[in-house]
This record gives sequence, structure tokens and C-alpha cells, in this order.
Amino acid sequence: MPDPAADTITVLGLESSCDDTAAAVVRLGPDGPRILSSVVQGQTALHAEFGGVVPEIAARAHVERIDLCVEQALASAGTDLSGIDAIAVTAGPGLIGGVLAGVMCAKGIAAGAGLPLIGVNHLAGHALTPRLTDGLEFPYLMLLVSGGHCQFLIVHSPTRFERLGGTIDDAPGEAFDKTAKLLGLPQPGGPSVEAEARGGDPARFAFPRPLLDRPGCDMSFSGLKTALLRARDQAVAEQGGLTRHDRADLCASFQAAVADVLVEKSRRATETYLQARPDDPVLAVAGGVAANATIRNALEDLCKARGLRFVAPPLNLCTDNAAMIAWAGIERYRLGLVDGLDLSARPRWPLDEHAPALLGSGKKGAKA
Ligand code: KG4
Ligand code: ZN
Repeated sequence: MPDPAADTITVLGLESSCDDTAAAVVRLGPDGPRILSSVVQGQTALHAEFGGVVPEIAARAHVERIDLCVEQALASAGTDLSGIDAIAVTAGPGLIGGVLAGVMCAKGIAAGAGLPLIGVNHLAGHALTPRLTDGLEFPYLMLLVSGGHCQFLIVHSPTRFERLGGTIDDAPGEAFDKTAKLLGLPQPGGPSVEAEARGGDPARFAFPRPLLDRPGCDMSFSGLKTALLRARDQAVAEQGGLTRHDRADLCASFQAAVADVLVEKSRRATETYLQARPDDPVLAVAGGVAANATIRNALEDLCKARGLRFVAPPLNLCTDNAAMIAWAGIERYRLGLVDGLDLSARPRWPLDEHAPALLGSGKKGAKA
């Protein structure tokens, strides 16, 4: 029987909602949480020639790999299922085939080993990570910014997330990836665009800063790639090709536009968040785009100016992983929230059920 009040809780987590198959073991003990193991098998090479994640290929790869990931995670944690108190699994949002692969595997383990099953919202996994890494107290402000997500959340509790706004179309990481593709740079686009931007002039191309003229925290990034495409084609038409210099300037100007939008919308989000009068105000970030030094530094400067602490978990816990799912599972387990074997996989599953639906998609499809 689950004992939510036990002083040590060990949870096996599974993640398979996009293009990473992952399993991890996390233990909460009297000294706080510890990640005993975290295994992530990416699928970048499988999807490379298609220029994006192919759902069917992703789902098949998850099915082939997830049990091996679980075995590896248990072995490197130095335990087996007898040392596990519950199984947590991403039950959405995400690509339905992948989510189903994880949910079915978790149900099989839970049924076979007689363990409680806990369905976790993938976005809750990201949003609760700063409590695992930095022991943050509620409420804190979170900017989730990756290839699949972009939203501001006030995290009030393990089950209450207030969405202040988000992208109505592409996620910023997706815009970085498309920019790289348009300029012939390698995937994933974020790091290659950032590297190229280093020698570039961020003021040469005046790319749009969409939705800054509108109140609120919603964002839009899809127009940026069209603007970049036009600027590229114009330079090619005028000069017969792109110099390295042009490419660096295009990357730097694109990156500056993304950073400006994220910083201005973060400033507005902090205004709403500070009205909740947190004792120790914090802006936490998660997602691959938070690795970008220009964006990160600009957010850090904003936090300094507004008296907030800036928290960025290590990158391997900001990007998709199963330790965050195991941790979110521990948070739910402590509240007595466990699921039955009728747990459903949900391709769309907004964290804040009360917020109006966003039009946005991101590379995992419309969902939040
Ligand atoms: O969080 P993540 O690993 O996966 C999800 O999308 O859920 O984020 C990956 C995204 C990719 O789109 C990648 O291009 C972007 O994060 N990214 C970056 C950087 N590193 C990764 N974007 C901008 N600058 C970076 N340094
Ligand atoms: Zn994610």
C-alpha cells in the first residue's frame, strides 16, 4: 500500500512524449531528493533526414527502447523493482504514439510488480524541476522555453499551475531549428545559430518583435522565420549568394529578436507574479533554449533589475528527461494522488485547465 507520509520514497520515472526515451530513479529521503540514475536515449539521428520529428518513427523507437532504458536506470541506481515505491510516467501532452508506449510499459510494470502507478503531465515535470534541483518554495515563476514549449507559469503547488501566457504558434527552439535549416546550419539549430551569431551584428536586420504592442504575455515566433527567409533571399538576389558575414548577421539579428520578446514578456510576467507577494521571488527557466547565453544573460539582467532570484537547473535536467517525471511523481505520491490501470494517454493536456486555449503548437503539436 502507498504510504505518502513515508520518510523515504523511491520512484521510477518514464518519459517518451517526443524524441527522447528516458527512465530514471529518484529518491526523496530525510536529506532531500537525490537522482539515483537518469538514462536518456535521444533519437536525433533517426529523424535527421526528415527535418523534424516523425511521430511514427518516434513511437516505434520508444517501444523498442523503453524497457532497456528501465533496466539500465534500475541497474545504475543499484536497485531492482523491490526497491521502488511507485512508477511515474508521462501521460501527456505529446505525440500520442510515444506517450502510449510509455504508459503501456508503466502499466505493465505496475501491474506485474504490484506497484502504484502515477500519471504525470510532462509540463508539470519541467515546471517542478527547480524544486528537485534547488529546493524552491512555492510560488515561483517559471519560463518554459524549448523546441516544444513556450509558456509562463506561476507554480503554486504540485497540482496548481497558473498560465500567464505562451506562444500562439511556434516555440522558440523550433524557430531556432528552422532558422538553422534556412541557413544550411546543422541541427539542432539552437547551438549552431548561437555559435554563428557570435561574430554577427544583431542590429543589421530589423526583424519583428511580434505581439509586443499587445498587453499580456502571449508570444508569436512563426513570423520571425518568414522575415529571416525574406532577408536571406533578398541578400542572395542582390549579391548572388550569402557571405559568412551575412549569415552571422542574420543569426545575431534573429537571436536578438527572440531575446527581446522573451525579456519583455518575462518583465510583464514578473509584474503579475510579484502581486502574489512571494517571500523569495524567483524566475526559474527550463527547456533547451535556456542554454542560450544571450537569452540567459538578458533574463538574468531582468531579474537583477526587478529583485528576483534567477534559477536555471543544469541543462540535462532542463531538457527532456525522466528524473523530472519521477520527481513530479514523488510530489503527487506525497499528496496521495495515484492512478489506476485505466490511466489514459492524453496528446493534449493543458497544465492550467482554466486558462484560455492557446492556438500554439510547437514541434510536438498543438496541446497547451
Ligand atoms: O528542451 P529540449 O531539449 O526539447 C524539447 O523541445 O522539449 O529543447 C530542444 C530545443 C531545440 O529546438 C534546440 O534548438 C533548442 O532547444 N536549443 C537552443 C540552444 N540549445 C538548444 N536554442 C537556442 N540556443 C541554444 N544554445
Ligand atoms: Zn519537454
